[in-house]
Amino acid sequence: MIPQDFIDQLLTRVDIVDVVDRCVPLKKGGQNYMACCPFHKEKSPSFTVSPSKQFYHCFGCGAHGSAIGFVMEYQGLPFVDAVKFLADSIGLPVPQQERAANPEVVRAARAKQLSLEDALSRAAAFYKQQLKSAPNAIAYLKGRGLTGEIAARYGLGYAPDGWQNLEAIAGDYNDSALVDSGLVIVAEDSGRRYDRFRDRVMFPIRNQRGAIIGFGGRVLGKGEPKYLNSPETPLFEKGRELYGLYEARQAVRGANAVLVVEGYMDVVALAQYGVEYAVATLGTATTGEHVRKLLRHADQVYFCFDGDKAGQKAAWRALENSLPQLVDGKALHFLFLPQEHDPDSYIREFGREAFEQALQEQSIPLSAYFIRQLCSDIDLSAPEGRAELIKQAKPLLDQIAAPMLGYIIRKRLAELAQVDVDELDMLLGRPRSERKGRRNYQLPRDSNRPESTPMVRREIKWALMNPDWAHHIDIRESQIYEGEMATLVAIIERIQASEASPSSAQLAESFRHSEHEAVIDSVLQESLREPEEFANPDERDRENFVQGFARLMARYDQELVTALSNKGYEHLSQEELQLLRTLLARRARPTGG
Ligand code: UTP
Ligand code: MN
Repeated sequence: MIPQDFIDQLLTRVDIVDVVDRCVPLKKGGQNYMACCPFHKEKSPSFTVSPSKQFYHCFGCGAHGSAIGFVMEYQGLPFVDAVKFLADSIGLPVPQQERAANPEVVRAARAKQLSLEDALSRAAAFYKQQLKSAPNAIAYLKGRGLTGEIAARYGLGYAPDGWQNLEAIAGDYNDSALVDSGLVIVAEDSGRRYDRFRDRVMFPIRNQRGAIIGFGGRVLGKGEPKYLNSPETPLFEKGRELYGLYEARQAVRGANAVLVVEGYMDVVALAQYGVEYAVATLGTATTGEHVRKLLRHADQVYFCFDGDKAGQKAAWRALENSLPQLVDGKALHFLFLPQEHDPDSYIREFGREAFEQALQEQSIPLSAYFIRQLCSDIDLSAPEGRAELIKQAKPLLDQIAAPMLGYIIRKRLAELAQVDVDELDMLLGRPRSERKGRRNYQLPRDSNRPESTPMVRREIKWALMNPDWAHHIDIRESQIYEGEMATLVAIIERIQASEASPSSAQLAESFRHSEHEAVIDSVLQESLREPEEFANPDERDRENFVQGFARLMARYDQELVTALSNKGYEHLSQEELQLLRTLLARRARPTGG
């Protein structure tokens, strides 16, 4: 773990404009800097870097983040490595590292990465070229209903038959980059080298910035294996990457939805029919990392699996891996197609409208799928069955990251198990104090507290974009808040606790890996859409922010008072009584706002 102080210091020292400019040359435009977005294909620049906020944002595809986030996305590095990379770039030693990364080593790794990327991009160009003069492959793709246009959009190609065709792209066929990028195989016994992909239609797989990192290759017609994929390489990690995400990015943003399917062909066919927001996993299970990535891009994620046994299994795996990534305010859905169909065959037979209608009307939300599956083999009429339900649900419930959705699912399970939700929580071993986080009194659940409203989100946005405004706010009893209101309060407290006002990027980064990360990211994703968020707001906006916060607090208090009073004094715990007294006293002597 890297200390938060260090991250803060790092973000004070680096300037996002320099960091981005080194990879994507920027042009000044007004207060900000602009370029064509490295994360999706575009002709006119909608990628903006704000020196005052230290954020980047693309109005076309929604890519956004701090300098650290940029390095993570652009270089494809995990968080810690991105921090080290940035620290090395300004010669800042990273604490708790045995020794600062040797610049030589960093440079060598970078050179290696470039040589692999270069080999892969030359191979892709070669395969694409070969497709033009391969009537069999063209006939195969046409036979599957693809147009030349869509083949070009996805950069489809053809690896001709023969053992060492890639000689054409490399000065030296023995170049280690060919092997290390997975294009060439070295025979174990003889040491002889040969092309991995032969006589196959080639699907290039891109990372977030469009660089080719691997391939999937399909036999023409019948043959085993049907698809051959690049092996895992330093560039290509199947559990992190999604086929078609680069191509889909803008459509995903437009739809605020992303569709996950199983096959390369499904993605391409869907795009041809106008469903351009589809991506595919790479012949492996959907991982938590996949879900995390997808939820960064859109609020709605649809999994579309085949109706067969394998599809059911894949869906349940996806659900299990999603639980720790769930975020209140975002939703996952599952659509099961009829047995005999996959998305490719379905959209061809029934068309786009029918497909999208099925997506809307026949998909089920994760919560419903979760409960349906858990109950599927259980006899709920018997107490033994209901006990079994709780037992099987426990390890899964423990993983659900979204507090509100988690609660609603537990409530539904409690009904099915014929227990009270508090009893269920007790049976699940969720002690009251732990369950309630930092406080040890119980808040009524059915109250109408403004935990997540457009107004709370607007306040969060303003606090993030104008950190110095938080100094005008007075917070008391900060531990009573839940949901997005708790996030807002945490942001304000964080600003008030720091000596100098943090930049927007520092502020957002300080909540990475925290319970507030997802909410903050989703508010950023939403609010950075407005070009004026990059402009400087005025006094009146600040007043609105301060007064808005006071109103929210007052409403929150009021709801709590009502809920506590409704419970009846004799049923309140000591802590609840104390809270009620505090709230009533506060209401009697309002300050500020
Ligand atoms: P499917 O077998 O469902 O293929 O594999 P598909 O997408 O319907 O392909 P077509 O329509 O027959 O061309 C789905 C995904 O599983 C992986 C690939 O990523 C494929 O897109 N897969 C499948 C493999 O990696 N290897 C295989 O042999 C088969
Ligand atoms: Mn298929």
